[in-house]
Amino acid sequence: MSDYFEWDVAKYGINVPAMDHEHEILIGHMNAVHSLYLAGASPTEVGAALEKLAAYTRKHFADEEAYMERIGFPELRVHAGIHKQLLARISAFAAEFARTSTLSDEFFSFLKMWLKAHICGIDVKYVAHTVPVSLDSAAHGIKLQHH
Ligand SMILES: [Fe+2]
Ligand SMILES: [Fe+2]
Repeated sequence: MSDYFEWDVAKYGINVPAMDHEHEILIGHMNAVHSLYLAGASPTEVGAALEKLAAYTRKHFADEEAYMERIGFPELRVHAGIHKQLLARISAFAAEFARTSTLSDEFFSFLKMWLKAHICGIDVKYVAHTVPVSLDSAAHGIKLQHH
């Protein structure tokens, strides 16, 4: 089965390697939920994949917010607010799945919207504030303050 979303740097890459890497993993978790659900996996398996997606999303949002903080991105609060709303929706879908063992089309459109509108529309906004990292600092995570 082909992937629901394929990581494509030309489509989703925002030129911040650490965040591109996390977005790629995120897409992998979305694909896992989608393919398990379509393959008729048990609710336990699908629920576990959903939980992994939610957990990775929390990690990614926290990392991204820490990154925006480090680069002094002025719209951090607005962006963090959007993250909160996305997390609330994921939790709501997960709760619905726990009750009904069903993932609606709305859930999958939500994932599509998330990637297209959020990564390509909102995440790209902090890129302009990114300063180049040296190879050395890149190897130690993201360290962007000039010293
Ligand atoms: Fe992101
Ligand atoms: Fe984001």
